[in-house]
Amino acid sequence: MWLHRNNDLPLWPGFGERGMDIKERRTLARQHKVILDCDPGVDDALALMLALAAPDAVKIIGITTVAGNVPLEHTTRNARGLLALADRLDIPVHAGCARPIMRTTGHRSVMHGGEGLGGVVLDPSAVPLGQAHAVDFIIDQVMAHPGEITLCPIGPMTNVALAMIKEPRLSKNLREIVFMGGAAFCPGNTTAAAEFNIYVDPQAAHVVLSSGVKLTMIGLDVTRKALIDRDLLNALISAQAEMPRLLGGMLASYSAGDPCLHDPCAIAWLINPMLFEGVDAFVEVDCGSGPNFGKTVAHISDRHLAGRKPNCHVVTSVDNVEILQFLRNRLSL
Ligand code: BDR
Ligand code: CA
Repeated sequence: MWLHRNNDLPLWPGFGERGMDIKERRTLARQHKVILDCDPGVDDALALMLALAAPDAVKIIGITTVAGNVPLEHTTRNARGLLALADRLDIPVHAGCARPIMRTTGHRSVMHGGEGLGGVVLDPSAVPLGQAHAVDFIIDQVMAHPGEITLCPIGPMTNVALAMIKEPRLSKNLREIVFMGGAAFCPGNTTAAAEFNIYVDPQAAHVVLSSGVKLTMIGLDVTRKALIDRDLLNALISAQAEMPRLLGGMLASYSAGDPCLHDPCAIAWLINPMLFEGVDAFVEVDCGSGPNFGKTVAHISDRHLAGRKPNCHVVTSVDNVEILQFLRNRLSL
């Protein structure tokens, strides 16, 4: 039996005695202390806004940036600018890797505009840049809070892989990783085989997929079923607050080329995994030089697993109407 709903969240013992109902128990059991590793990016920006709007489920303890959609200097400035816009000066931003592990320059996305936020340039100055490199910030935080931190990479996974290599105990001390990337059972969006985040740094994805950490993959299999619609855009554009209004403007041009709610789905999963369905699989990345470079190959049948254990929960589907309603509720639109 492969496809299942994620309604098997752990319940903490003794809660009933303290007068909490099932819903409260589930909420607490799934609260995540998150490091958001990102490359903003228009959909990264919406993901961040969603995370900030869900403090009951997601506590962002830091943002780390990586080269991806646009170069590192832009992703870092955009992350700082977005936090300034949200008036969240308490969340630190740490810049990470400026290039993938095996290539001297990354592959850029054309979807997000030259500077990453669809033509909008935000003032980052209210949010200072953290002194530590992103890799060291990740290591320090995880080792200081063993078993507590969820990493949420929504760009190429260079920082995460290098943190695992630099600190071999990192994997054992993470709670889990929920990443946006890959295309297990559908074509890619960058090549016929590969999704953008994995294509940019497949070696990094390989390190993460073979780390033994509890992994959830939010890839194109699901994000292609979560499409921005006109009502969401209109609700954002006509919102009173500045952040949703600006994001609505960014999304209007972005979604004309790519209407998928890629990165927001990763945050939505953290907030409410019961919106989604998925399958456990053994996922590996093609790091060869052929046409499948960057492809995430998912093995699910006994024959294909050939004795290997699943290393990843691959999220495969969501109801478009439900996810849009969920977003509007959470963003108070
Ligand atoms: C991923 O690639 C980027 O362009 C988006 O921000 C998202 O993380 C989708 O393939
Ligand atoms: Ca991204």
